Amino acid sequence: MKLQRHSEHQRLIGIIGHKLAHTLSPVMHTTAFKKLNLDFTYGVMDVTPEMLPNLIASMRALNFRGANVTVPYKQDVIPLVDEVSEEAKVIGAVNTIVNNSGRLVGYNTDAHGVYISLAYYADSIKNNHVVIFGAGGAARATVYAVAKFFSPKRIMIVNRTLENAKKMAEEFGPKFKLTKFFFTNDPETTTRELEVAALIINTTSVGMKPLVNFHPLPTNAKVQKNQIVLDIVYNPIDTALLQLAAGAGAKVVSGVEMLLGQGAKAFELFTHHEFPMHAAREAVVKELTQDMHQ
Ligand SMILES: NC(=O)c1ccc[n+]([C@@H]2O[C@H](COP(=O)([O-])OP(=O)(O)OC[C@H]3O[C@@H](n4cnc5c(N)ncnc54)[C@H](OP(=O)(O)O)[C@@H]3O)[C@@H](O)[C@H]2O)c1
Repeated sequence: MKLQRHSEHQRLIGIIGHKLAHTLSPVMHTTAFKKLNLDFTYGVMDVTPEMLPNLIASMRALNFRGANVTVPYKQDVIPLVDEVSEEAKVIGAVNTIVNNSGRLVGYNTDAHGVYISLAYYADSIKNNHVVIFGAGGAARATVYAVAKFFSPKRIMIVNRTLENAKKMAEEFGPKFKLTKFFFTNDPETTTRELEVAALIINTTSVGMKPLVNFHPLPTNAKVQKNQIVLDIVYNPIDTALLQLAAGAGAKVVSGVEMLLGQGAKAFELFTHHEFPMHAAREAVVKELTQDMHQ
């Protein structure tokens, strides 16, 4: 089968990060390129902070088509690119860089990943209460996407370090007039808010491998069957929080959906082709399932 050439030169794409022990982006994108017979090569670019400016400069010099960006560089790349999308500016993080004829443009596709994960439940979220655990990097894209695309009445940000939750609530509050923002780290306030929430999201790393038996809910809090629960942690796929929620009969959404959603949007920005979701999902789930048995 003949490969389709995107362009003679712009065939290199990769993921930029540091200490990338396990990233699913190469398997997801490589599977998608193969499925559509696209002639792109996807690599892993694990660099120290001092090397980051050189790496971005080489993307121009070597005429890379683009890159995904992950921890810890989603903020650090912002001053290094030529332009940043409005969405990435508001979120304050870039997770995708596209090289448009030498001009590097930064995007944030994590927000699209959250949108795709929850779009089916849009009517249940609108004008309702949402509880979001976490105030780190992924929480920013999540809070933005939930407020922007689903207009809930209230978002309660719950975080171990209260100051981080406060900063996020104060920053995003004035940007979304239809949603009121609150923050807490108090278990009783959290439990009360959980009782009336339509949607519960975990964006903390609690529950991520190897600490698979943990979830961020307070000890006495319960999930109810009319609630929607998204855990953006995707390794393991079936986190302790999702198991608890499924046991209560709630609607559960795995972090794999966000992972695929952000990947799909990045892929489309790189290639201008529709992402082959089914093939990519199979490859990602296979990889995660194998990882569970290691
Ligand atoms: N599905 C996807 O596509 C996707 C995309 C991005 C990230 N993720 C996942 O999201 C998770 C968070 O990523 P991130 O980039 O936002 O990380 P981050 O910026 O380091 O933020 C971590 C968050 O988790 C909280 N936290 C960490 N350990 C905790 C503990 N023991 N108890 C309570 N809270 C704790 C932190 O609270 P403090 O503020 O108190 O430190 C902070 O709110 C990771 O598991 C990552 O794999 C998934």
